[in-house]
Amino acid sequence: MTLAQTNYQPPFNITRASHLVLTSCDLAKARDFYTDPAIFERDMERMLLRHWFCAGHVSSIPRAGDYLVVDLGTESLIIIRNSAGEVRALLNVCRHRGSRLCAARSGKAQSARLTCPYHAWTYDLDGKLLIARQMPESFRRDDIALKTLPVRIMEGLIFTTFAKDPLDLGIAADALARSAGVHSWATAKVAHRELYSIRANWKLAVENYVECYHCTPAHPEFSKRHVYARPAEQNVELERADARGPKRSASWCPTSTDMDARPEPAGNPSPSCAAPCTTESSAPRTTADRSRA
Ligand code: FES
Repeated sequence: MTLAQTNYQPPFNITRASHLVLTSCDLAKARDFYTDPAIFERDMERMLLRHWFCAGHVSSIPRAGDYLVVDLGTESLIIIRNSAGEVRALLNVCRHRGSRLCAARSGKAQSARLTCPYHAWTYDLDGKLLIARQMPESFRRDDIALKTLPVRIMEGLIFTTFAKDPLDLGIAADALARSAGVHSWATAKVAHRELYSIRANWKLAVENYVECYHCTPAHPEFSKRHVYARPAEQNVELERADARGPKRSASWCPTSTDMDARPEPAGNPSPSCAAPCTTESSAPRTTADRSRA
Protein backbone atom coordinates (compact mmCIF):
# COMPACT_ATOMS: atom_id res chain seq x y z
CA MET A 1 0.00 0.00 0.00
CA THR A 2 1.35 3.39 -0.86
CA LEU A 3 1.49 5.78 2.04
CA ALA A 4 4.41 7.84 0.89
CA GLN A 5 4.04 9.83 -2.28
CA THR A 6 5.85 13.06 -2.78
CA ASN A 7 2.71 15.01 -3.76
CA TYR A 8 0.28 12.98 -1.68
CA GLN A 9 -2.38 14.88 0.23
CA PRO A 10 -3.87 12.63 2.88
CA PRO A 11 -7.64 12.32 3.00
CA PHE A 12 -7.99 12.98 6.70
CA ASN A 13 -11.59 11.97 6.81
CA ILE A 14 -13.55 9.49 4.81
CA THR A 15 -16.21 12.04 3.95
CA ARG A 16 -13.76 14.08 1.95
CA ALA A 17 -12.09 11.02 0.45
CA SER A 18 -15.40 9.56 -0.66
CA HIS A 19 -16.40 12.89 -2.13
CA LEU A 20 -13.27 12.86 -4.26
CA VAL A 21 -14.10 9.39 -5.52
CA LEU A 22 -17.69 10.32 -6.19
CA THR A 23 -16.75 13.33 -8.24
CA SER A 24 -14.16 11.41 -10.23
CA CYS A 25 -15.41 10.40 -13.68
CA ASP A 26 -12.83 7.70 -14.29
CA LEU A 27 -14.23 4.88 -16.36
CA ALA A 28 -12.96 1.32 -16.51
CA LYS A 29 -9.39 0.89 -17.61
CA ALA A 30 -8.39 -1.32 -20.51
CA ARG A 31 -8.11 -5.00 -19.63
CA ASP A 32 -4.33 -4.95 -20.04
CA PHE A 33 -4.07 -2.60 -17.08
CA TYR A 34 -5.04 -5.52 -14.86
CA THR A 35 -3.84 -8.56 -16.81
CA ASP A 36 -0.64 -7.67 -18.68
CA PRO A 37 2.38 -9.29 -16.91
CA ALA A 38 4.60 -6.45 -18.12
CA ILE A 39 2.36 -3.89 -16.43
CA PHE A 40 2.37 -5.98 -13.27
CA GLU A 41 6.17 -6.00 -13.33
CA ARG A 42 6.09 -2.24 -13.55
CA ASP A 43 3.62 -2.07 -10.68
CA MET A 44 6.01 -4.10 -8.58
CA GLU A 45 9.05 -2.03 -9.47
CA ARG A 46 7.53 1.44 -9.33
CA MET A 47 4.92 1.03 -6.67
CA LEU A 48 4.96 -2.00 -4.41
CA LEU A 49 8.71 -2.43 -4.03
CA ARG A 50 9.38 1.29 -4.02
CA HIS A 51 6.98 2.48 -1.36
CA TRP A 52 6.66 1.69 2.31
CA PHE A 53 4.07 -0.93 3.11
CA CYS A 54 2.41 -2.17 6.28
CA ALA A 55 3.79 -5.56 7.31
CA GLY A 56 1.79 -6.12 10.47
CA HIS A 57 1.09 -4.87 13.97
CA VAL A 58 3.52 -4.92 16.87
CA SER A 59 1.07 -6.85 19.05
CA SER A 60 1.48 -9.87 16.75
CA ILE A 61 5.11 -10.28 17.85
CA PRO A 62 5.13 -9.31 21.54
CA ARG A 63 8.17 -11.33 22.70
CA ALA A 64 11.76 -11.73 21.53
CA GLY A 65 11.90 -14.32 18.75
CA ASP A 66 8.26 -13.93 17.70
CA TYR A 67 8.03 -13.49 13.96
CA LEU A 68 5.68 -12.98 11.03
CA VAL A 69 6.46 -13.93 7.44
CA VAL A 70 5.26 -11.41 4.87
CA ASP A 71 5.37 -12.14 1.14
CA LEU A 72 5.27 -9.41 -1.46
CA GLY A 73 5.41 -10.62 -5.04
CA THR A 74 8.41 -12.92 -5.25
CA GLU A 75 9.98 -11.42 -2.12
CA SER A 76 9.64 -12.85 1.38
CA LEU A 77 10.37 -11.11 4.67
CA ILE A 78 10.70 -12.13 8.30
CA ILE A 79 9.34 -9.47 10.64
CA ILE A 80 10.87 -10.41 13.98
CA ARG A 81 11.39 -8.99 17.46
CA ASN A 82 15.02 -9.14 18.52
CA SER A 83 16.51 -9.71 21.97
CA ALA A 84 16.49 -5.97 22.69
CA GLY A 85 12.75 -5.81 21.97
CA GLU A 86 13.17 -4.02 18.63
CA VAL A 87 11.36 -5.01 15.45
CA ARG A 88 13.57 -6.11 12.57
CA ALA A 89 12.77 -6.89 8.93
CA LEU A 90 15.03 -9.65 7.57
CA LEU A 91 14.95 -11.08 4.08
CA ASN A 92 13.67 -14.64 4.31
CA VAL A 93 16.57 -15.85 2.18
CA CYS A 94 19.51 -17.80 3.58
CA ARG A 95 22.86 -16.30 2.61
CA HIS A 96 24.31 -19.75 1.87
CA ARG A 97 22.26 -21.08 -1.04
CA GLY A 98 19.12 -18.99 -0.86
CA SER A 99 16.73 -21.33 0.91
CA ARG A 100 13.73 -19.87 2.71
CA LEU A 101 14.51 -19.77 6.42
CA CYS A 102 10.94 -19.66 7.72
CA ALA A 103 8.22 -21.62 5.99
CA ALA A 104 5.40 -20.92 8.48
CA ARG A 105 3.48 -17.66 8.28
CA SER A 106 4.27 -16.95 11.92
CA GLY A 107 6.10 -18.56 14.82
CA LYS A 108 8.83 -18.21 17.39
CA ALA A 109 12.56 -18.61 16.80
CA GLN A 110 13.70 -21.36 19.15
CA SER A 111 16.55 -20.38 21.47
CA ALA A 112 16.55 -16.95 19.81
CA ARG A 113 17.94 -18.44 16.61
CA LEU A 114 16.82 -18.87 13.04
CA THR A 115 18.16 -22.08 11.54
CA CYS A 116 18.04 -22.75 7.83
CA PRO A 117 16.27 -26.06 7.10
CA TYR A 118 18.63 -26.84 4.18
CA HIS A 119 22.20 -26.95 5.57
CA ALA A 120 21.53 -25.56 9.05
CA TRP A 121 23.28 -22.23 8.89
CA THR A 122 22.08 -20.42 12.00
CA TYR A 123 21.44 -16.72 12.54
CA ASP A 124 20.60 -14.58 15.56
CA LEU A 125 17.48 -12.42 15.78
CA ASP A 126 19.25 -9.51 14.06
CA GLY A 127 20.23 -11.75 11.13
CA LYS A 128 23.88 -12.15 12.08
CA LEU A 129 25.38 -15.51 11.11
CA LEU A 130 26.27 -17.55 14.21
CA ILE A 131 26.89 -21.07 12.95
CA ALA A 132 28.02 -22.45 9.59
CA ARG A 133 29.19 -26.05 9.69
CA GLN A 134 32.36 -27.39 8.07
CA MET A 135 33.47 -24.19 6.43
CA PRO A 136 37.11 -23.67 5.40
CA GLU A 137 39.44 -21.71 7.68
CA SER A 138 39.30 -18.74 5.38
CA PHE A 139 35.54 -18.47 5.88
CA ARG A 140 34.67 -15.22 7.63
CA ARG A 141 31.41 -15.78 9.45
CA ASP A 142 31.36 -12.25 10.88
CA ASP A 143 31.03 -10.79 7.39
CA ILE A 144 27.77 -12.58 6.70
CA ALA A 145 24.27 -11.62 7.81
CA LEU A 146 20.76 -11.77 6.46
CA LYS A 147 19.82 -8.75 4.39
CA THR A 148 17.75 -6.28 6.36
CA LEU A 149 15.16 -3.67 5.41
CA PRO A 150 14.40 -0.45 7.27
CA VAL A 151 11.58 -0.54 9.82
CA ARG A 152 9.37 2.27 11.03
CA ILE A 153 6.65 1.83 13.63
CA MET A 154 3.70 4.18 13.34
CA GLU A 155 0.66 3.84 15.61
CA GLY A 156 1.62 0.24 16.29
CA LEU A 157 1.81 -0.61 12.59
CA ILE A 158 5.09 -1.97 11.26
CA PHE A 159 6.17 -0.38 8.00
CA THR A 160 9.05 -1.45 5.83
CA THR A 161 10.25 -0.90 2.28
CA PHE A 162 12.43 -2.51 -0.36
CA ALA A 163 13.49 0.89 -1.71
CA LYS A 164 17.23 1.61 -1.77
CA ASP A 165 16.47 5.22 -0.92
CA PRO A 166 13.32 5.07 1.22
CA LEU A 167 10.77 7.78 0.61
CA ASP A 168 9.87 10.27 3.28
CA LEU A 169 7.11 9.11 5.61
CA GLY A 170 6.33 12.44 7.25
CA ILE A 171 2.95 12.98 5.59
CA ALA A 172 1.87 9.40 6.18
CA ALA A 173 2.93 9.59 9.82
CA ASP A 174 0.85 12.72 10.29
CA ALA A 175 -2.17 11.16 8.57
CA LEU A 176 -1.91 8.03 10.68
CA ALA A 177 -1.52 9.96 13.90
CA ARG A 178 -4.71 11.84 13.10
CA SER A 179 -6.73 8.85 11.95
CA ALA A 180 -5.45 5.70 13.69
CA GLY A 181 -4.24 7.70 16.66
CA VAL A 182 -7.73 8.51 17.92
CA HIS A 183 -8.49 4.79 17.90
CA SER A 184 -5.38 4.01 20.00
CA TRP A 185 -3.97 1.61 17.43
CA ALA A 186 -0.56 1.93 19.03
CA THR A 187 -1.76 -0.01 22.07
CA ALA A 188 -4.34 -2.17 20.30
CA LYS A 189 -3.98 -5.92 19.93
CA VAL A 190 -4.70 -8.13 16.95
CA ALA A 191 -7.66 -10.23 18.07
CA HIS A 192 -8.22 -12.12 14.84
CA ARG A 193 -6.51 -12.37 11.51
CA GLU A 194 -8.14 -13.52 8.31
CA LEU A 195 -6.27 -14.21 5.09
CA TYR A 196 -8.06 -14.58 1.82
CA SER A 197 -7.02 -14.80 -1.78
CA ILE A 198 -8.73 -12.81 -4.46
CA ARG A 199 -8.28 -13.99 -8.02
CA ALA A 200 -7.60 -10.64 -9.64
CA ASN A 201 -4.98 -7.96 -10.02
CA TRP A 202 -4.05 -6.10 -6.83
CA LYS A 203 -5.19 -2.73 -8.23
CA LEU A 204 -8.80 -3.90 -8.26
CA ALA A 205 -8.59 -4.67 -4.55
CA VAL A 206 -7.14 -1.24 -3.79
CA GLU A 207 -9.62 0.57 -6.02
CA ASN A 208 -12.50 -1.16 -4.30
CA TYR A 209 -11.10 -0.47 -0.86
CA VAL A 210 -10.58 3.26 -1.26
CA GLU A 211 -14.00 4.13 -2.65
CA CYS A 212 -17.40 3.68 -1.11
CA TYR A 213 -19.43 4.63 -4.15
CA HIS A 214 -20.33 0.95 -4.31
CA CYS A 215 -21.34 0.67 -0.67
CA THR A 216 -25.01 1.62 -0.90
CA PRO A 217 -25.94 -0.88 -3.63
CA ALA A 218 -23.44 -3.59 -2.67
CA HIS A 219 -23.63 -3.44 1.15
CA PRO A 220 -27.11 -2.24 2.13
CA GLU A 221 -26.76 -3.26 5.80
CA PHE A 222 -23.39 -1.56 6.17
CA SER A 223 -24.74 1.51 4.41
CA LYS A 224 -27.47 2.03 6.98
CA ARG A 225 -24.78 3.43 9.25
CA HIS A 226 -22.66 4.91 6.54
CA VAL A 227 -21.97 8.56 5.91
CA TYR A 228 -24.19 8.51 2.79
CA ALA A 229 -27.18 7.46 4.84
CA ARG A 230 -27.45 10.87 6.43
CA PRO A 231 -28.38 14.19 4.84
CA ALA A 232 -25.56 15.90 2.96
CA GLU A 233 -25.73 18.98 5.19
CA GLN A 234 -24.74 16.84 8.17
CA ASN A 235 -21.63 15.77 6.32
CA VAL A 236 -20.76 19.41 5.68
CA GLU A 237 -21.20 20.05 9.39
CA LEU A 238 -18.88 17.14 10.18
CA GLU A 239 -16.24 18.43 7.78
CA ARG A 240 -16.37 21.85 9.43
CA ALA A 241 -15.89 20.19 12.80
CA ASP A 242 -12.89 18.31 11.43
CA ALA A 243 -11.44 21.54 10.09
CA ARG A 244 -11.59 22.97 13.59
CA GLY A 245 -9.54 19.97 14.66
CA PRO A 246 -11.36 18.66 17.74
CA LYS A 247 -9.91 15.55 19.32
CA ARG A 248 -12.47 12.84 18.78
CA SER A 249 -13.06 9.98 21.10
CA ALA A 250 -11.50 6.64 20.29
CA SER A 251 -14.90 5.24 19.31
CA TRP A 252 -15.62 7.88 16.69
CA CYS A 253 -15.71 6.52 13.18
CA PRO A 254 -15.86 8.81 10.15
CA THR A 255 -18.10 6.40 8.27
CA SER A 256 -20.64 6.26 11.05
CA THR A 257 -23.92 8.14 10.96
CA ASP A 258 -23.51 8.71 14.68
CA MET A 259 -22.60 12.37 14.96
CA ASP A 260 -22.37 12.32 18.73
CA ALA A 261 -19.30 10.09 18.95
CA ARG A 262 -21.04 7.99 21.56
CA PRO A 263 -18.69 5.45 23.14
CA GLU A 264 -19.19 1.92 21.92
CA PRO A 265 -19.58 -0.86 24.50
CA ALA A 266 -16.24 -2.28 25.60
CA GLY A 267 -14.87 -4.82 23.15
CA ASN A 268 -17.41 -3.90 20.50
CA PRO A 269 -15.89 -1.89 17.65
CA SER A 270 -17.96 0.53 15.69
CA PRO A 271 -20.12 -1.63 13.40
CA SER A 272 -19.33 0.49 10.39
CA CYS A 273 -15.58 -0.04 10.88
CA ALA A 274 -15.95 -3.75 11.51
CA ALA A 275 -18.09 -4.41 8.45
CA PRO A 276 -16.40 -6.13 5.52
CA CYS A 277 -16.19 -4.05 2.39
CA THR A 278 -16.41 -6.68 -0.33
CA THR A 279 -19.12 -9.00 -1.53
CA GLU A 280 -19.02 -12.08 -3.68
CA SER A 281 -20.33 -10.10 -6.61
CA SER A 282 -18.09 -7.09 -6.25
CA ALA A 283 -15.00 -8.61 -4.66
CA PRO A 284 -11.80 -7.61 -6.37
CA ARG A 285 -9.93 -10.49 -7.89
CA THR A 286 -6.35 -10.46 -6.80
CA THR A 287 -4.21 -12.32 -4.33
CA ALA A 288 -4.22 -10.31 -1.19
CA ASP A 289 -3.33 -10.71 2.43
CA ARG A 290 -5.67 -8.45 4.32
CA SER A 291 -5.86 -8.46 8.03
CA ARG A 292 -7.76 -6.34 10.46
CA ALA A 293 -6.20 -5.26 13.68
S1 FES B 1 20.78 -22.73 2.02
FE1 FES B 1 20.66 -22.26 4.08
S2 FES B 1 22.23 -23.35 4.99
FE2 FES B 1 22.38 -23.82 2.93
